[in-house]
Amino acid sequence: MSFYKDRIYPYLVDVLGDPSPIRRIRQQIISQAQGKVLEIGAGSGANFIHYDPAKVSKLYALEPNPGMVRLAEKQQRKTKLQVEFIDLPGERIPLDDHAVDCVVSTFTLCTIPGIKDALRGIARVLKPGGELIFFELGLSPDPAVQRWQTRLEPVFHRMFQGLYLTRDIPALIREAGFQIENMEAGYLAPFPKSSTYSWWGVARKVPR
Ligand SMILES: C[S@@+](CC[C@H](N)C(=O)[O-])C[C@H]1O[C@@H](n2cnc3c(N)ncnc32)[C@H](O)[C@@H]1O
Repeated sequence: MSFYKDRIYPYLVDVLGDPSPIRRIRQQIISQAQGKVLEIGAGSGANFIHYDPAKVSKLYALEPNPGMVRLAEKQQRKTKLQVEFIDLPGERIPLDDHAVDCVVSTFTLCTIPGIKDALRGIARVLKPGGELIFFELGLSPDPAVQRWQTRLEPVFHRMFQGLYLTRDIPALIREAGFQIENMEAGYLAPFPKSSTYSWWGVARKVPR
């Protein structure tokens, strides 16, 4: 693993990924998680302090980057959560079908290379009626911002190890068999609009 991916990228995500507008939304959505929870791309563990240990019986923190896991372990020590780290990519979730009540993804569906496989895996491990709590960056509805997103995407993709600015995450979530029950969207200060258009909310797995 390169020095950049192991040391600098985790540091950048940790330092830039949790300014106060983002932290407020993390707090709002993560506190809704309950039961057995799988967090995809847990990163440096920025969400850990927002889970309610009285409601979350276990957290599977899937994160393939060991540099991120080192930072996340520090966050874990600040909580009473029972956390099990899984060092595999989100396209290969090693849990049984219907193993969890809730899946959390914050700024991971906008990064993960095989998003369709990951969403299929998320639907598989969720219990029928289980919830996907999401908070993701992506394609702005404003054509002028979209043009900037297309121009800047290669730079962000390199700097943030695969981050896409132009994914329509709600459409991909729906295509994967989820119904979005509540969602808000908007530009999150303090960064430019091209890198801050976000959606956050809850989607439920539609029983088949
Ligand atoms: C922008 S960071 C977000 C981290 C964290 N979820 C947060 O909200 O701060 C994207 C995360 O996705 C992880 N990631 C990248 N590829 C992945 C994959 N194939 N499966 C799971 N996670 C992946 C990265 O290692 C990184 O931790």
